[in-house]
Amino acid sequence: MAPSRIDAEFATGTTSKSQFQNTNDQKIHYGDWRDDFFRDGYVIIKGVLPKDRARQYQSEALTWLESFGIGFDRNDITTWKKENVPQSFKGGMYLHFSAAHEKYVWDVRCEPGVIEPFAKLWGTDELVVSFDTVNVTLPQSIVGTYDSKPWPHVDQAPERRGLRCVQGIVNLSESGPNDGGLVVMKGSSPLFEQFFDENPVTGPTPWRTAKHKDFHPFHDKDLDWYRARGCELIKVCAEPGDLILWDSRQMHWAQFGESDLIRTIVYATYTPATWMSEEDRALKKDLFKNYETTTHWPHTNLFTHGKAMITVDGKEIPDPLERGEPITKPERSEKLLKLAGAMKY
Ligand SMILES: [Fe+2]
Repeated sequence: MAPSRIDAEFATGTTSKSQFQNTNDQKIHYGDWRDDFFRDGYVIIKGVLPKDRARQYQSEALTWLESFGIGFDRNDITTWKKENVPQSFKGGMYLHFSAAHEKYVWDVRCEPGVIEPFAKLWGTDELVVSFDTVNVTLPQSIVGTYDSKPWPHVDQAPERRGLRCVQGIVNLSESGPNDGGLVVMKGSSPLFEQFFDENPVTGPTPWRTAKHKDFHPFHDKDLDWYRARGCELIKVCAEPGDLILWDSRQMHWAQFGESDLIRTIVYATYTPATWMSEEDRALKKDLFKNYETTTHWPHTNLFTHGKAMITVDGKEIPDPLERGEPITKPERSEKLLKLAGAMKY
C-alpha cells in the first residue's frame, strides 16, 4: 500500500491500546465461541434474546413501518408493495427517518444478552454502540425482485489493520436457507492483511466517500483468491433471538430470500468506549442529539446518512416522510447514555 493512501488516523488510531492489533488473535485458544469467531471470521450466538421477545421486537419494527401511513399493513398481504413503505437502501435498510433511535431499537441495543458477547470479546463492559439501523425487507416473492446482485465487501478500510470492529445482527425473524440473510466468505477475515499486501489498491477509488471510508468492494476474481486459500461462501442461518457477529474484515453481503418472510433485524456493533477520541465523542453526542443514523462503526468513522431526499421534476427535495425525531423516544437511562457516548463511564 503506497504511503500516500495511509490516513494518519489509521496509522496512529485510537485503538492502539487494543490487544487485537494483529492477525494472530485466532491462535489464542479460548475454549468457547471466540475460537470459532477468530477462525471463521463470524459466529452465531444462539438465543441472546428469548424467541418471544425477539418476535415482540419484530412486531414493533412492523408497527414502525406501518406508522408512515402510506399503505403497508402487515395483516393484509395485498398491501405488501415497494411503494407502500418509505425509501430504503438495498430493499430494507432504513438510513433516515430517525430509524436508529426508535425506542425498540434502543431497547434491543440495551439488552444484556446482546451486550454480553461484545463485552467478553473486548474484555470490558465499558462499550459504545453504533447508531446503525434496522433492516426490514419485504419478501421478493411478493413485492417483486430487488437489485439482488451480490455486493461482496468489507466494512474496514484496507489501511486499517487488525481487528478493529465486530459487527452484529440481532435476528428478529427466521433466517433459514431460503430466507434473506447475511452471506459471508467464511475464513476471510484472518486473510485481510495478506489479501491487501498481495493486492494493493491502485487507481481511482470512487467508493471511498466520507461515508464509505471503511469500505472496500471486491471483484469476482478476489473471491477466487479467497477460495484458493480454503475460504467458502456461507449463507448464515439463524433464528429469532440469535446474535450474528462478524469481523468487519470479513467479506460479506446481504442476500435476498426466496421465501415470503419479512426479514427483520437490528444492526448493533459495540466497541470499547476508551477507543473513542474526544473529537469523535463530541461528534457522536451531536449525532445522538439529532437522532442521526450512521455507519456500523461505534467509536470512529462517524458519518450521518443525512436526511431523506426525493427527486421531483429533476430537482432534489426533502422527502415529506422524513422525521426529525423518532415516533417513540427511548428513556434516556444512564446505560443508554453511556452506550450512546453521551455520558462518560
Ligand atoms: Fe457490510
